[in-house]
Amino acid sequence: MKEISVSAIQDNLFDVLREKWALVTAGTEENCNTMTVSWGGFGIFWNKPVATIYIRPQRYTKEFIDKEKTFSISVLPEEFREALKLCGSQSGRDVDKFQKAGITPAFEEGTPYIAESNLVMVCRKLCEGDIDPATFSDKQYDDVNYPNKDYHHYYIAEIEKVLVAEA
Ligand SMILES: Cc1cc2nc3c(=O)[nH]c(=O)nc-3n(C[C@H](O)[C@H](O)[C@H](O)COP(=O)(O)O)c2cc1C
Repeated sequence: MKEISVSAIQDNLFDVLREKWALVTAGTEENCNTMTVSWGGFGIFWNKPVATIYIRPQRYTKEFIDKEKTFSISVLPEEFREALKLCGSQSGRDVDKFQKAGITPAFEEGTPYIAESNLVMVCRKLCEGDIDPATFSDKQYDDVNYPNKDYHHYYIAEIEKVLVAEA
């Protein structure tokens, strides 16, 4: 893969999350995990380019995100749709998702990402917190999104490096 600047990203990141989805990968070369995400955001915070991800507390991947200072967001070609479905429905607690989904962990200065990606964002955590239902502007959001009261934990992270597949 080759490095490009954040401003050289060609993809519409709204469409990427909503339609293509992405894999959030975290951990170390010894042990890492990945999961599918389709909720998140990209923007500017503290004058830095950032990604925000929303992770429910029961996700195994959360344990890896919490232990390390960095994680990655990987966008894969359409042919990996089934792999993304698998990584979004099975837990790394129960299966080796890399092996089962046919994807390969690669590492950028120790941060795991998915080798088969078209686009990778290597992210460094800046701040995080819990989504608090007391702050919802309407109670319907609680009923619709949190029937199990498993409120997301959000992470705002600086996009430190962007990698794209070489043509
Ligand atoms: C399309 C799609 C999008 C998802 N987006 C999120 C998300 O943004 N946040 C989240 O916590 N879970 C999300 N999930 C669910 C996790 O990917 C799923 O629970 C996964 O199995 C967790 O794996 P883990 O336990 O190995 O971390 C999504 C699942 C799918 C299929």
